[in-house]
Amino acid sequence: MTRMIIDTDTASDDAVALVLALTDADVDVLAITVVAGNVPLEMGVQNAIYTRDLCRSTAPVHAGADRPLLREQVLAHDVHGADGMGDIGLPLTGGEPAPDHAVDVLIELARRYPGEITLVTLGPLTNIALALRKAPDIAGLFDRVVMMAGTGDGTGNVTPAAEFNVYVDPEAADVVFRSGMPLEMVGWDVSRNDATLTAADGEALAALGPLGEFCNGIQRQLLEFCRTVTHLDGFDLPDPVTMAVALDPSVATRVVHVPVAVETTGSQTAGMTVCDHLGVTDRPANVKVVLAADRDRFLSMLHRACAR
Ligand code: BDR
Ligand code: CA
Repeated sequence: MTRMIIDTDTASDDAVALVLALTDADVDVLAITVVAGNVPLEMGVQNAIYTRDLCRSTAPVHAGADRPLLREQVLAHDVHGADGMGDIGLPLTGGEPAPDHAVDVLIELARRYPGEITLVTLGPLTNIALALRKAPDIAGLFDRVVMMAGTGDGTGNVTPAAEFNVYVDPEAADVVFRSGMPLEMVGWDVSRNDATLTAADGEALAALGPLGEFCNGIQRQLLEFCRTVTHLDGFDLPDPVTMAVALDPSVATRVVHVPVAVETTGSQTAGMTVCDHLGVTDRPANVKVVLAADRDRFLSMLHRACAR
């Protein structure tokens, strides 16, 4: 049984990642910690609670940081919809989060289960950076830290150089990337290349039952965003493919262990994950960077989860 904490700015692709983990009988989700990112914090909390309940899970949902460490909040309603869940009319209000603050929960659980927890991050790294600041000892207490963050090939989705989760809070990402945690990074390039579902792939998921209908339906705004902005044939699923790697490391088919630094000051490149693929710096490798994923294995995991 894998013990897992999922840190998420819950919107449409985060929700599919939650479905993957919460329907997996071999995973014990100890906590879902929410951070501001795609949507304001309270909306992310409601989206996480709705998804958790749909999966008939009892994993506690905890609210965390409501803004980046230093910067103004950047939201992604254009990508995921006004409610973050595709604006398909879901009742996304009234859920009660668990009482403790996400940052305290991260610290408490890391200390309670040293060496046992897989931490999966699907949003800006604000909660994790705050936890590291408050309790530096937790850096060495996780088994794995699998992050949807950055890009392995340098192509961003917010700016030419930066991926959303790192762009929103580069200072937090910098703290995490320097922390010595056992970091694995699944960048946006992996979702663009290997985890983009066509509209027909989405319909096939929807045909599997209520969870499939949910996972496909909530991508309505994302589908439109991909058609008009990122020019993908369908919709990409960065958080779900990251979760798939966390659940089954063999989903990652190409991984390099290299030095990665976060750009915090560049006028064109703030939020870029600078990967030293050729080893031209003398910095030690700090991140296992996933560069490719097994699309078929990923799709069959999605089908298995959506059929539950
Ligand atoms: C990341 O940004 C968000 O919009 C998605 O949920 C994902 O975590 C992709 O850049
Ligand atoms: Ca996310």
